[in-house]
Amino acid sequence: MVFGRKFLVIAHRGASFDAPENTMAAFHLAHRLQADMIELDVQLSSDGIPVVFHDSKLDKKTNGTGRISNYSLEELKMLDAGSWFSDAFAGERIPRLAEVLNWAKDKILVNIEIKPEAVSDDAKDGIEKKTTVLVKDFGMENEVIISGFDYRTIRRVKEFMPAVHTGLLYHREVSKGSDYDKLVQQNKADFFHCSWREIGERQAKLLNNANVPFLIYTLNSTKLMKKMIRIGASGIFTDKPGLLRRLINNE
Ligand code: G3P
Ligand code: MG
Repeated sequence: MVFGRKFLVIAHRGASFDAPENTMAAFHLAHRLQADMIELDVQLSSDGIPVVFHDSKLDKKTNGTGRISNYSLEELKMLDAGSWFSDAFAGERIPRLAEVLNWAKDKILVNIEIKPEAVSDDAKDGIEKKTTVLVKDFGMENEVIISGFDYRTIRRVKEFMPAVHTGLLYHREVSKGSDYDKLVQQNKADFFHCSWREIGERQAKLLNNANVPFLIYTLNSTKLMKKMIRIGASGIFTDKPGLLRRLINNE
């Protein structure tokens, strides 16, 4: 059981097949499609505010250009984060993490993925600290998983907030050859997250035997979803949460 549920339907960047990723529109739709959890990506604006955006550059998913970390929150809020997807979503904005948490509380679980590009050597006032402060302010320690590909992030989050669940995102270059259960234990994480390409029966068995729940990204086909459910995944990240919800309900 994870968060009192047998399995988590996780909307990857929101319901991002049908709405622009990491926008409130995508999160609202994920909720309507009965996802258990939304996944979102967090970085910092130039004035140090946690904002929800995946790419390090603005060019593909907004009408802005260049690195997101060069823009203040006020400047980012002027950008259109929906038109690239379709005219129907014109005017969608890049959300602050605080806005999403405010909406999600008591409604839907949240996986906050801290992007490695936003991680700094400054542990005291970095993105991990700012994120945990927000989670605490909203009283959501039991409603989130904080994850990252940078293992410093995982360890810092646990130091700042021991009660919160952390998810270690498998990073091939860093972790090559390691047993997945050991990586989780070494970094005091609670969940293991990886691509469906990076897990087979052997690693799944190690994780299951060590009672480490694992969550798999990003699957949009029922064939692969079924395979990951069979090897014991506790949840799946998908751009199509409606599809996964129907599959789980019919299991
Ligand atoms: O957190 C799971 C998944 O989102 C990690 O990859 O690049 O989609 O953020 P990415
Ligand atoms: Mg992500």
